Amino acid sequence: MKNRREVLVGMAAVAVTSCTKRREGPEAGPSDCSATDTNIEGPFYRPGAPERSDLDQYGDAGTPLSLVGQVFEKSCAQPLPGAVIEFWHANPEGGYDNSSPEMRYRCRVTTDDEGRFSLNTLLPGRYLNGEVLRPRHIHVKVFTPDGTERLTTQLYMVGDPYIAGDPFVMPSLVLPFTGSETTTMAVKDVLFVLT
Ligand SMILES: [Fe+2]
Repeated sequence: MKNRREVLVGMAAVAVTSCTKRREGPEAGPSDCSATDTNIEGPFYRPGAPERSDLDQYGDAGTPLSLVGQVFEKSCAQPLPGAVIEFWHANPEGGYDNSSPEMRYRCRVTTDDEGRFSLNTLLPGRYLNGEVLRPRHIHVKVFTPDGTERLTTQLYMVGDPYIAGDPFVMPSLVLPFTGSETTTMAVKDVLFVLT
């Protein structure tokens, strides 16, 4: 499982507008990128998730999913070390952990000296919003190192047939994951750009 993830992290991904842009070189930031669009928080956020970057630790059956990216402060000119990203999402069956002390499928990740971060988890399941299934998604909050909340959004997976019928999805937040729902899924160059 770990080796497969390591392979996934090395896979290429196509940039997506606004939220992600391909980097131009080892030391160069993106030349043009917009602030990441916000998206609703939803009803299942829990503060206080533990610091960790691997959420595939409960023995659940599911599709391994990896996400690698970078946080920038304004106009992509300034990577943001020490930013705190909170991720939370449904388990592979579509349920949130809203009560256990384990805070399953919830975490906090701190960016490194270049503002970079990674997340390994399992593909979130879909769940009902009223009578309609929401597309698979990952909730995100980004905080500056001083703890100021700067972004609340959600990430979606390209090709999800439930995107078209969902009232919340924004095109810029649909990420170009490679792989498939039955094998593995990965995306690189996910940029969170703070205004
Ligand atoms: Fe959700």
